[in-house]
Amino acid sequence: MNPGPKFADHDWWRSAVVYQVYPRSFADSNNDGVGDVAGITGKLDYLKGLGVDAIWVSPWYPSPLWDGGYDVSDYRDIHPDFGTLDDADELFEQAHARGLRVLIDLVPNHCSIDHPWFQAALAAGPGSPERELFVFREGRGDGGELPPTNWGASFGGGAWERVIEADGTPGQWFLHMFAPEQPDWNWENPRVLEEFDGILRFWFDRDADGFRVDVADSLIIDQDFPDTPIDPRTGKGTWEKYPGAPCWDRPELAEIQRRWRRVADEYTNSAQGPRIFVSEAYLPFERMVEYVRADRLHTSFNFEFLQSEWYAESFRNVIDKSLAAHRGVGAPATWVLGNHDVIRPVSRYGKSLSGRSFRSGVVTDEVHWLDDMAGLPVDVALGRRRARAAALLMMALPGGCYVYQGEELGLEEVEDLPEESLQDPVWVRSNHMIRGRDGCRVPIPWSGNSAPFGFGTDADPWLPQPNHWGELTAERQDDDPDSMLNLYRAALAERHRNTALGDGEMSWEESEDGILSFTREPGFRCVVNTGDTDHDLGEATVILTSSPLGGSVLPPNTTVWVLPPNTTVWMVS
Ligand code: NOJ
Repeated sequence: MNPGPKFADHDWWRSAVVYQVYPRSFADSNNDGVGDVAGITGKLDYLKGLGVDAIWVSPWYPSPLWDGGYDVSDYRDIHPDFGTLDDADELFEQAHARGLRVLIDLVPNHCSIDHPWFQAALAAGPGSPERELFVFREGRGDGGELPPTNWGASFGGGAWERVIEADGTPGQWFLHMFAPEQPDWNWENPRVLEEFDGILRFWFDRDADGFRVDVADSLIIDQDFPDTPIDPRTGKGTWEKYPGAPCWDRPELAEIQRRWRRVADEYTNSAQGPRIFVSEAYLPFERMVEYVRADRLHTSFNFEFLQSEWYAESFRNVIDKSLAAHRGVGAPATWVLGNHDVIRPVSRYGKSLSGRSFRSGVVTDEVHWLDDMAGLPVDVALGRRRARAAALLMMALPGGCYVYQGEELGLEEVEDLPEESLQDPVWVRSNHMIRGRDGCRVPIPWSGNSAPFGFGTDADPWLPQPNHWGELTAERQDDDPDSMLNLYRAALAERHRNTALGDGEMSWEESEDGILSFTREPGFRCVVNTGDTDHDLGEATVILTSSPLGGSVLPPNTTVWVLPPNTTVWMVS
């Protein structure tokens, strides 16, 4: 199969639609209840047919899976449950043959307690070069019994764990910004820098097209180790990313990112175009866009868009701020509605609290996804209708975007997973107060009327699927012209065909409260009704609509793509 000349396009990433695969939950080729790499390869034709340009595979490395694989014990291999390096090579080859690129996950902030270098550090003891690769410190208090700082960890509890030294006595503490099973690397140490250069090269040599960079805004720690203000929710030092916070967005990150960029640029070639990075950094735009300057990472997820409540003005403000900030550094915006860490859009938009307000003059706190929203009743039909509308909004915006597996099927968050099945460390670390992120990680329903819905053959999936997911399988939706799957296919096909879409500019049109209306050249207009009353579109030639129109009426919770007024129809033929 010849991927065609467009595959070498050097700007492909500026407009790309990237599909996120969570390998454990995507497709189980060997029927052991766990998704695998061969399962992904088996679905490449589905993904090509969907119309995406690339896939990003969440961590597939050997790992004890304390945090779903974001606890890596070997960065140069594949988890045995997911397959082998040969399977990865086959995936790269088969994807490229179809003109699809493959991004993988780089987890540079921390590894797993099972990583041989961490095990060596435990064995080697205080003051050893092995301990220098991680962040070990003496404790405070007379006997060192208090952690070195007051910092809280992301999943709850403190960010330091005390070790038992070789003589059997409690000794130093090591830093873990996430679970205690995820020790932080010491990025002050040149061996860590060199090791990660080697990891990038290992996967670029195997033909990876790029990396999504996990927690790209951490890595560097203020070497004064100051305490942070107490977060009243946890009683620990805050995790907030205030300017100057000791563990976030430190200026030294710039040089690390430039170093990675130089490695990636060495691999740019005329047949495949550039290898790229997408950074995961939950930061305000003005700080986040520093990461996507021309000599640093290429793109960065736009999490404020994902966090926005279902309300036109809120979306508009986020879009404006994002585009202005990206324009300032010459990078494209990267839109995202969901991922493996947040409540699925169908459920989010079906709740009374659908996100954070970015309306002018309205200040709301960051919404804490896993606890503030979970448990609120959800109107799934409303949520699905809005998720369809949000997808068309996202795909019409300038830049690239990400689609998290199952979003195209309109899957909802599974909020009633049995407690005994929950695996997210958040569940344990919150003393069973917060159920965590497993509800968006339930294995994908592909076909049939009962579990495992074609995920595997008959083995129980690692997380149970709801019985009613037979209505949402890809197979069922394939035949239904009005399905979410066919909406995504139509929208992505239009994105490829229509030169107005992807990277570029947009212009707002004046509109009433609750309505978003913008045009893109040549000849494209997107109108979103987030309000609760009908909106008259006037005379319009419809390209695509997320829900049926009533003549020229755009009903609530609907997005339409149309030709602008006074455009002659021959332009779209
Ligand atoms: C962000 C990842 O998306 C999330 O799943 C993980 O738990 C943390 N980083 C820690 O690696």
